[in-house]
Amino acid sequence: MEKQWHDQIRKEILGLDLKVPLCDGTRRPYLNLDNAATTPPLVAVVQAIQSFLPWYSSVHRGFGYKSQLSTAVYQEARRLVLDFFAAPAQQYIALFVKNTSEALNKLAKRLDLGAGEVLTTWMEHHSNDLPWRLKNQTQHLELTAEGCLDLADLETKLKKARPRIKLVTVCGASNVTGIVNPLQTIAELAHHYGAQIAVDAAQLAPHHPLKIQSSGAEHLDYLCLSGHKIYAPFGSGVLIGPHETFRVGTPDQVGGGTVIAVSREEVVFAPPPDRDEVGTPNPIGAVALAAALRWLAKNDLPRLAAYEAELSEYAFDRLKTIPGLILYGPPPQHYPRIGVIAFNLEGFPHGLVAAFLAFEAGIGVRHGCFCARPYVHHLLGLSKAEIVSYENLAKAGKKCLLPGMVRISFGFYNTKSEFDLLVDALRTLQSEEEKIKNRYRIDPVTGEYLPKAGNFKDALMRHTKTFFNF
Ligand SMILES: Cc1ncc(COP(=O)(O)O)c(C=O)c1O
Repeated sequence: MEKQWHDQIRKEILGLDLKVPLCDGTRRPYLNLDNAATTPPLVAVVQAIQSFLPWYSSVHRGFGYKSQLSTAVYQEARRLVLDFFAAPAQQYIALFVKNTSEALNKLAKRLDLGAGEVLTTWMEHHSNDLPWRLKNQTQHLELTAEGCLDLADLETKLKKARPRIKLVTVCGASNVTGIVNPLQTIAELAHHYGAQIAVDAAQLAPHHPLKIQSSGAEHLDYLCLSGHKIYAPFGSGVLIGPHETFRVGTPDQVGGGTVIAVSREEVVFAPPPDRDEVGTPNPIGAVALAAALRWLAKNDLPRLAAYEAELSEYAFDRLKTIPGLILYGPPPQHYPRIGVIAFNLEGFPHGLVAAFLAFEAGIGVRHGCFCARPYVHHLLGLSKAEIVSYENLAKAGKKCLLPGMVRISFGFYNTKSEFDLLVDALRTLQSEEEKIKNRYRIDPVTGEYLPKAGNFKDALMRHTKTFFNF
């Protein structure tokens, strides 16, 4: 039953049967273990777009039928997004943006906190750290030795800075360890001390049910995510927040669509959402995102999440059996995590592990610091002096010597047997260490490991050109 269900689920993802070239000239089915970076599209999303495309026209900028239809479809997508996250439309507005980074930058610019402070954390992706650091007085919540948020520090900081901290902003799940943060507790504490809470749901929303409001639970104030991480890669993301935040102030970007009156003397901005959606909207992206959310709701997201949790435990346990493999963060049996696992293999640079998996096993992973350098530094246990010297190397463009990790991350369509392939590949890497190391050279500029034999980049360029051969 479970197998039948999962076989069916796999058919809902586009491109799982594609083979990729390996450095020995053979081809293998691509195994995508890099879903935290971006997920493949759902077939349902592509179908929704294909059915809409012949009707596609400008949104808010025409009176022809197609234009009116496109505008209505765009607004319906907005309603469906609010609905999925249980955000009441009387209180909350969903703004379409490019991605999570744009959403957080917009929020940082649009939230008028006066002299108030922001509390973010040392676990964040740079996109939920830098926009705040540049705009407001910002504090960072500390981490436990294992890499979880230190909730005692949260209360201490909120109490000490009361009432200066106006916003607590935190990821729903880490893009490095997959740790799921206790949003309820954080929201309760934030509200108790007079702050609002913003959730960067880029990693959590695709893998876990998430509600802005539900009975008996503390509400969330802001939430944002990226379509491309939730099976809808068509250039859209969303920022959800209370109407009143976006009803006032100057939009972060101004121009067409953001105004209701403009004369030589005066500019009057439109109410939300128009005030904060500059230029011609992207209804394709909006349809894609809403279709993906509909699909997740109809296909029992809690069941998909439970399946991913089981996969995560299996993967963690299997990786533990590899000698010399260092895992980061608490095991999923001890702390809630989504299927994101970062590791290092003793004796192997992280870049070489990723290159070997890509070029010799057809497995896609990511390596490095995952745009979360302070968090990765903490997990690696680097001293202040080490961090300074590594960041100096980075500033000097010496990428090949930088510390980091290998990250695997999965979606509901991945299987246990795929993890077995990964584990087999890592064991081969260990058992044929010298031979394999000799097959690679390091590019001194990019820091990438590339096979010495053949010319991978030329072959990649030939493939690239096929998409433009009309
Ligand atoms: C937790 C988290 N926040 C923000 C981002 C930024 O997302 P995007 O690149 O779609 O703007 C990412 C991307 O990996 C992420 O994992």
